[in-house]
Amino acid sequence: MPDTHLVTGGAGFVGSHLVLALVARGDRVVVLDDLSTGHAAAVPASTELISGRIGDADALAHAFALGPFASVFHFAALSLVGESMREPYRYMAENARNGLALIEATIAHGVKRLVLSSTAALFGAPSTIPIPEEEPVDPGSPYGESKAWLERALVWAERVHGLRSAALRYFNAAGADPGGRLGEDHRPETHLIPLVLDAASGRRPPLTVFGDDYPTPDGTCIRDYIHVADLAEAHLLALEALNERSVRYNLGNGTGYSVRQVIATAERVTGRAVPHTIGPRRAGDPPVLVASSRRIREELGWTPRYPALETIIADAWAWRQAHPEGYR
Ligand code: UFG
Repeated sequence: MPDTHLVTGGAGFVGSHLVLALVARGDRVVVLDDLSTGHAAAVPASTELISGRIGDADALAHAFALGPFASVFHFAALSLVGESMREPYRYMAENARNGLALIEATIAHGVKRLVLSSTAALFGAPSTIPIPEEEPVDPGSPYGESKAWLERALVWAERVHGLRSAALRYFNAAGADPGGRLGEDHRPETHLIPLVLDAASGRRPPLTVFGDDYPTPDGTCIRDYIHVADLAEAHLLALEALNERSVRYNLGNGTGYSVRQVIATAERVTGRAVPHTIGPRRAGDPPVLVASSRRIREELGWTPRYPALETIIADAWAWRQAHPEGYR
């Protein structure tokens, strides 16, 4: 019997790639997404899409009525570090309120497993690089804070109600489905790799590098870019682990690349120059975020299939070339 899963935010970048992976293995999926940043076109035709907000009790009831669900995946959230520094309370209130409503509904409907899309932004000024799960949670932005709250809420959901959960702390999700079916299309786009590629193709103005005076070898921020298909695979493994126990994993490749290195790699992959200028720092950006994903590798046998930055950028470039207007 195939399982049925509820995926909130399943029309978004990471969520849609997970939906594709679930559908590919024969499971049934219901997506709840308000389409504020996601795209209906990113959801497979065979998948039921409920267009609504988690904060809307009717939409949530409608979604759960399509169960029973074997598990809930929670992606739907505000997720921009920089924006959260300008609108801190909107981030904390919305992400926490919606997340709590979903957790309560999950428990009320007797679902036993929840996978939370968490973030490297839990770590504002990490003392150990690459960052292990033992690193104290100390967010550098209201966005990170809101996810830290939800991780704590899930601890209590298990102690009080027995809901098992996986908190997957993504580092920088990037790339696109290697099969070319899905890609990255944020509006407005704020993420580095899509902006670099659009600068290379001339679709957007030159990239602004946010600060070159960080304490890193070339002065620009270092991030751990992880292929979105490898992230999707990690969700499937985490789901199986929930049959035994709750888990928390940092998810990245374990290698950091500076903004300048991303630009240089994109120039090699695309064969084009990436016009760019240096601007001021963006508030809330930690200098270095690189994951130790030793724990998920050892415990669940997760191995990234697409760890090379070249591959990540090449897949993003292929989708962008085929879909210059994104999902529009
Ligand atoms: N950057 C630029 N110029 C730009 C855009 C980004 O220099 O125009 C830089 C940023 O300053 C940062 C790096 O490129 O150093 C990556 O920035 P992104 O906006 O692509 O990603 P973030 O690291 O800010 O955040 C992403 C997700 C978050 C998640 C985080 C975890 O958006 O949800 O990764 O590391 F929490």
